[in-house]
Amino acid sequence: MTRWIDVTALADIPRRGSRVVALPMGPVAVFRTGDDQVFALLDRCPHKGGPLSQGIVHGHAVTCPLHNWTIEFATGAARAPDHGCTPRFEVRIVDERVHIAVAQSLAEAAE
Ligand code: FES
Repeated sequence: MTRWIDVTALADIPRRGSRVVALPMGPVAVFRTGDDQVFALLDRCPHKGGPLSQGIVHGHAVTCPLHNWTIEFATGAARAPDHGCTPRFEVRIVDERVHIAVAQSLAEAAE
């Protein structure tokens, strides 16, 4: 089971930017694309752990600031020829607030 956690206002995430939120599973980068879609990935590149939140958002992907791997928001997977995957989390927008799905067991452990 999952539980939705309200993490930030949509307006607090710049377009083509991100905001990092602390969640039970670690720091999560919440990205807002140029077309106002929102995605959430663990803020850790699948290559060597670079902070994806500090990367460049383009289309529905982010380029890691350390060695330029590109990570797809829809899957968390690195774009070929690189390979690897970072965890991604379900996101919903309710009344201009961003909610992220967290496993119930993790949410309870954080309380
Ligand atoms: S740590 Fe992200 S590309 Fe190397």
